[in-house]
Amino acid sequence: MLKMNKNIVLIGFMASGKTLSSKELARRLKRKRVSTDELIAEREKKSIAEIFAQSGEPYFRKLEREVVHEIAAQKNLVIDCGGGVVTDPENLQALKANGIVFFLEAAPEAVYRRIKGQKNRPLLNVADPLDKIKTLLAERDPHYRMAHHVVDSNDDNIGKVVDDILNILSQD
Ligand code: S3P
Repeated sequence: MLKMNKNIVLIGFMASGKTLSSKELARRLKRKRVSTDELIAEREKKSIAEIFAQSGEPYFRKLEREVVHEIAAQKNLVIDCGGGVVTDPENLQALKANGIVFFLEAAPEAVYRRIKGQKNRPLLNVADPLDKIKTLLAERDPHYRMAHHVVDSNDDNIGKVVDDILNILSQD
């Protein structure tokens, strides 16, 4: 299992459980966890919402690309990717080259249930968040499906998601 020290990379839509699962995975595997959003926020000394509001999405995506390429070159990490990381094919390529990539799949309704009332995701601060989730998810789905493995993340059961990932890794 995990023979090659490859990174374990979690991708998927906002609120698909990447952050909690990556923390639990890192804990169980005694690996270092890195989150693209956390690294960006740390470096800019601003929240993701502030970066979007003050500098715009293209600037955020530029920072994200830099961070992704940096992290993807390392080994033995559990990587929690922001939901939009994979919209740049070169990001995904870099992550796949050195890691095993898992898509945490969650339906629009599950995402909506989880983000309702929250304000920390600038792309979903719109009049009809569910509609926006559906549109964005449909657009991104083909990118997410380029992952090596797909894991169902519709139930609010992080332990099960992590078990599924570890099972797949043990058969790899
Ligand atoms: C985004 C997802 C967010 C964050 C930013 C943009 C996206 O991360 O990177 O708000 O484009 O899907 P999470 O997936 O961790 O919410």
